[in-house]
Order: sequence, then structure tokens, then C-alpha cells
Amino acid sequence: TKIHVVVPAAGSGRRMQSAVPKQYLTLSGESVLSHTLKRLLAALPALSTLTVALSPGDEQGRALLRQLASDYPGKAITTAPGGAERSDSVLNALDALRDVAGDQDWVLVHDAARPCVRGDDIARMMAVLSETPDVDGGLLAAPVAATLKRSDSEDCIMETVDRQQVWAAATPQTFRYHALRQALLKANEHEISVTDEASAMEAVGAKIKLIPCQPDNIKITWQGDIAMAEAILKSQ
Ligand code: CTP
Ligand code: MG
Repeated sequence: TKIHVVVPAAGSGRRMQSAVPKQYLTLSGESVLSHTLKRLLAALPALSTLTVALSPGDEQGRALLRQLASDYPGKAITTAPGGAERSDSVLNALDALRDVAGDQDWVLVHDAARPCVRGDDIARMMAVLSETPDVDGGLLAAPVAATLKRSDSEDCIMETVDRQQVWAAATPQTFRYHALRQALLKANEHEISVTDEASAMEAVGAKIKLIPCQPDNIKITWQGDIAMAEAILKSQ
């Protein structure tokens, strides 16, 4: 079983409200996407392919991938067209892998906007998956520390949600090539919006292992997250 990495990087970063999409904001002297891809390549020496979904006309992304392809000559580093939703971008990348991926190969999907992911967490996820043959896949997630409230439509508390066994889902999320593709196609077909791969796999009844990661595996989303990510990178 080979290891493939898919990175959706074709979002427009509406919540960030910046002039350039957030994957190209500068973090400690390099783009967010560059940090993310280098961390994945370093954490997974066994990976065979890296496929990055880019927006049409994204020359900066293409140039970065050409550079990485020359820095990592043994790896197949390619692009796929971004789609309307994150799941469409992931599906396009899976389609681009059609001829090289075996049905049982592992695919790790990782957000371009998570540059602080730790290599040791990724390595531990792969070790857990190989030691736990009865699960269909897994994802990094952080146990929730906050006290959680569910509200009504007027923002008044209805209840406190027990945070025992509540996790914040992160990425990478790792599933078998064929199963993941089928699950995402099915979600599309039924017009179920899925914000992560695990949601699509849950909908088809998969058994999915949560692998604890550091809470600093943040997804850069809002203004201010760049400064936070810089502080995290310095602290690691
Ligand atoms: N993404 C993608 N294709 C899309 C939408 C998102 O490849 N059509 C990617 C983003 O580039 C990001 C990841 O999916 O790396 C997670 O998405 P999110 O954090 O929501 O990023 P954006 O969609 O860019 O941001 P926003 O939702 O604020 O517009
Ligand atoms: Mg989005």
C-alpha cells in the first residue's frame, strides 16, 4: 500500500478578508502553503505522491510545486484543478491519482491552511492505523478544552454540552483511496455538504479512529491567525 498526500489549496479565504488568498500570506518569511507542503514531505518520507488542488490561474502555486518537485526528485508532485467546494477540490485530486493509486492505498488529506501540523503527530497517526487493522481510517483531532454551550436562536443557553469525548477535528485525515473516493462521490450525489473527509466516511458507516494531536494544529481562518501561527512555529 502506497501513501498519497492530497492538499486542497484552492479556497479563496473569504473569512480572512485579505488581498491574497490565505495560503499565500507570509508566515515567518515563507508562504503558508510552502510551510504546509514542506512539513508533509518531511513527516512522510514514504509518501509516493503529493497532489495539490489549485485555483485556475494560480501561477504562484505552480511555481512553488515546480520548486518542490526539483527539491524532492523521488516524489510525484503534481497539481489538480480546484473545485467549487473543498470536497470538489479533493475529488479532483483523487481523480488525478486514478492511474497511480491502488484501491487500498492510503490517502492523507491535509488543509493547505494548517501549516503548524507536527510531523510526529502525522507519524503517530500512520503507526496507529497500521497497528489497528479493524479501522477504516483516522484523523488528527484535539480533545476540546472549552466548556461548551448549545444556544437557541436568541443566543440564550439551552444546555451545557458534555465535553467528555468531544474532539475538534483537524487534518490530516487518512482513508483508503477507493473508499474515500466512493464516500465523497456519494455525499456529492446526495448533495450532503461535507467540510471534512471524515463526515463523508461517517455517512457510509466507516469506523474512524481519532488520533490526539496538539491543539496548535490550527487552521488559519481569521485575521490574527497569521500572528498566532508565527508564534506557534517559533514555539515548536
Ligand atoms: N479549499 C479548496 N477548495 C475550495 C475551498 C477550500 O481547496 N473550493 C481548501 C482551502 O484552500 C483550505 C482548505 O480547503 O486549505 C480548508 O478550507 P477553508 O479553511 O474553509 O478555506 P477557504 O475556503 O479558503 O476559506 P473561507 O471558508 O474563509 O473562504
Ligand atoms: Mg471554506
